[in-house]
Amino acid sequence: MNGEVHGEVSDGTERFWEEHYRGHERRWSGRPNPVLVDVIGSLRHPGTALDLGCGEGGDAIWLAQQGWRVTAVDVSATALDRAAADAAAADVADRIDFRRHDLAHTFPPGAFDLVSAQYLHSPIEFPRVRVLQEAASAVTPGGLLLIVDHASVRPGSWVDPEETLVLIGLSPGQWRTERLESREREATGPNGRRVVHTDNIVAVRRLAR
Ligand SMILES: C[S@@+](CC[C@H](N)C(=O)[O-])C[C@H]1O[C@@H](n2cnc3c(N)ncnc32)[C@H](O)[C@@H]1O
Repeated sequence: MNGEVHGEVSDGTERFWEEHYRGHERRWSGRPNPVLVDVIGSLRHPGTALDLGCGEGGDAIWLAQQGWRVTAVDVSATALDRAAADAAAADVADRIDFRRHDLAHTFPPGAFDLVSAQYLHSPIEFPRVRVLQEAASAVTPGGLLLIVDHASVRPGSWVDPEETLVLIGLSPGQWRTERLESREREATGPNGRRVVHTDNIVAVRRLAR
């Protein structure tokens, strides 16, 4: 069911990300991203969320467990199948709509109280700015756009969060910036050694009309 694709998918994008996931039993930890937990964990009123490039679903499942209704999108059918299996095991499958899109071609319809793009990177040609502009358009009045990027891992790194904000070109009269920062995070590298990554964080809230 997660293999059903909405719209067009670029061969190169699909091939790269399918190989990325199929080559390993699990690519990610299954835990939610720390910045998401930090920014969203204190919100008392969950609503609707869109998780762009959801991968194996750690964020979507955590959001559903916090009471959010989630639309979770990825180009990889393998990643979506794993995410759906984990959501069922966590008993939140009824709160998550997993959808397969190549965001370079199609964007899920609807408006969301939270739109989250966590490490939405690709070494394959990807119209990142346009997709992030579409992400901003999908935020409800009063809702939040949260973008977290690797600042220190190539490919797909950006110098600073200000650059992302400028490129998306949000109208200052309609948005309030809540976070704009680079933050260090400890992780375990491929050889088991401790590594430090820098994340760029952009959190902007659409002003309620
Ligand atoms: C670096 S991973 C991050 C996964 C997840 N957000 C996380 O933080 O663990 C990037 C994700 O974006 C997805 N992705 C890359 N290009 C895409 C595209 N054009 N359309 C939809 N998803 C895409 C990949 O399949 C992958 O799951």
